[in-house]
Amino acid sequence: MTKDRIALYPGTFDPVTLGHIDIIQRSCRLFDKVIVTLAKNMKKKPLFSLAERKEMVEDAVKHLANVSVDAFDGLLIEYAKARNVSAIVRGLRAVSDFEFEFQMALMNRHMAEEITTVFLMPHEKFTYLNSTIIRDVANFGGDVHKFTTDFVAQKLKDKYKNEV
Ligand code: COA
Repeated sequence: MTKDRIALYPGTFDPVTLGHIDIIQRSCRLFDKVIVTLAKNMKKKPLFSLAERKEMVEDAVKHLANVSVDAFDGLLIEYAKARNVSAIVRGLRAVSDFEFEFQMALMNRHMAEEITTVFLMPHEKFTYLNSTIIRDVANFGGDVHKFTTDFVAQKLKDKYKNEV
């Protein structure tokens, strides 16, 4: 019996966008199992709590049978090893992503040679998206339905309404 090919797709997902979902769907076709995991970026102070972000990702991937959602606090590569992951998936939207991604991929490879970072490009219609821009648009009352799920759009609306 061959071993399942398991991929890990880590991120902050504050909140998940259609660009992230595009990458998850592409990963699903390449791997037997995909674990979307909420990880901690030390430089970020998320708007949504971990539980809220996880709930939004779970809702966004509920139609995908081979995707699970998890969260952890620690070193990504240690989590990847513990889950028998063979690849870490990252999205590349523009050249500006490259430097940070290159650095992380090499550092992760240095710590675990057997785990390969794989870069996927989202559909070009999502290349300008990130979570910050979606939060900004929602904060100023703009419509974000074209950039994320209906569930996330509602959560953003509720979040900013409660902050006023
Ligand atoms: N579509 C739309 N937006 C996308 C996207 C896509 N396909 N891919 C990335 N983005 C956006 C994200 O929304 C995010 O936007 P924001 O900065 O406005 O919030 C931005 O691009 C970068 O996000 P992401 O690629 O998810 O990176 P991240 O900073 O959220 O995640 C971690 C980085 C969590 C994976 C990394 O810090 C990590 O591994 N942490 C664990 C600790 C560790 O091991 N550190 C050592 C690493 S070598």
